[in-house]
Amino acid sequence: EAAEKGGYEHFMIKEIYEQPKAVRETMSSRLAKDDSSVLLDELKWNKHDLKAFKKIFIVACGTAYHAGVVGKYYIEKLARIPVEVDIASEFRYRSPLLDENNLTIVISQSGETSDTLAALKEAKRLGSRTLAVTNVVGSSIAREADNVIYTWAGPEIAVASTKAYTTQLVTMFMLAVYMADLKATVSPERSKELIKALRNLPGQLHEILEDVEPIKTFAQRYGFNEDVFFIGRSLDYAVALEGSLKLKEISYIHAEAYAAGELKHGTLALIIEGVPVIALATQSDVYEKTLSNIKEVKARDAVVIGLALKGDKQIEKYVDHTIYIPDTDQLLAPILAVIPLQLLAYYAAVTRGCDVDKPRNLAKSVTVE
Ligand code: G6P
Repeated sequence: EAAEKGGYEHFMIKEIYEQPKAVRETMSSRLAKDDSSVLLDELKWNKHDLKAFKKIFIVACGTAYHAGVVGKYYIEKLARIPVEVDIASEFRYRSPLLDENNLTIVISQSGETSDTLAALKEAKRLGSRTLAVTNVVGSSIAREADNVIYTWAGPEIAVASTKAYTTQLVTMFMLAVYMADLKATVSPERSKELIKALRNLPGQLHEILEDVEPIKTFAQRYGFNEDVFFIGRSLDYAVALEGSLKLKEISYIHAEAYAAGELKHGTLALIIEGVPVIALATQSDVYEKTLSNIKEVKARDAVVIGLALKGDKQIEKYVDHTIYIPDTDQLLAPILAVIPLQLLAYYAAVTRGCDVDKPRNLAKSVTVE
């Protein structure tokens, strides 16, 4: 096992560091050389079919579900097709309204999650077209779906998913740009700009991973708190969900993610002196709104760690500490922003002496209901 860990202490940290490569592999053969378009040659539908979908459902569990939440923003913002995201165990029993005008996308690292597989079968039974986004070639979900897009993350061993998530995000982004091109909902110039920004990600991921000391220090300093809150709006909220799950899964710290604008409807009551709040502020269109939510929690004496794009000096006036990620298109910020959150969870778990790769009560792949 030590050899498989390649010198790292745990599989999780090894897999965190594999993300630049995993992301590069997932996109490499799927982008036109001149950055003009996304090539998804594996899709067996014709363009007319793809353009005709009236509504898309994204169904998954756990971290893959969180990738689905990001995917909804991508498809709706770029391809302008309405998307519903469901947890597989809910979807399969809620009599979803589906027919042949719908596309159901299931996301699953393993391709074997029982609830996701059952949801896929249910969608097919109702007449929906289906697409699997999975990391395992020939898995049950890959075989069951009409179409498959593989994430090329390589084997993921740690129970807490890291590189599978970032490659799922890249895949959902490519799919959204692909559909947007077909539907002409984005201009060719914008599409090119997005693809160029995508190509920069591996280098930017590498940049984040080169300097993890500040994150380690935060994890050591706040790793013994029993409650941590994550707040953000729009795509930052989607990433907050994943950051909070990571922390819960492996460090057993009680963590909650809140849409920042929803705080005042209940959670603000829990914000008292010294409670760590991780505030994501990478989305320019809701930036000012997020800042006012940060002020609200600061006014209750929370300790706020802001997560922002490099160059944002304004945030420092309102938070106790800032973690910067390289500047990118706001749509791609989740793929960078999640890295410090994965590292925070990892180092908090190490600080607390937890079994990082095999957290209590959890399994890598849940193949029973
Ligand atoms: C388990 C794992 C999670 C994973 C979820 C869905 O709960 O511990 O890390 O996100 O299953 O797994 P899948 O293989 O379908 O992505």
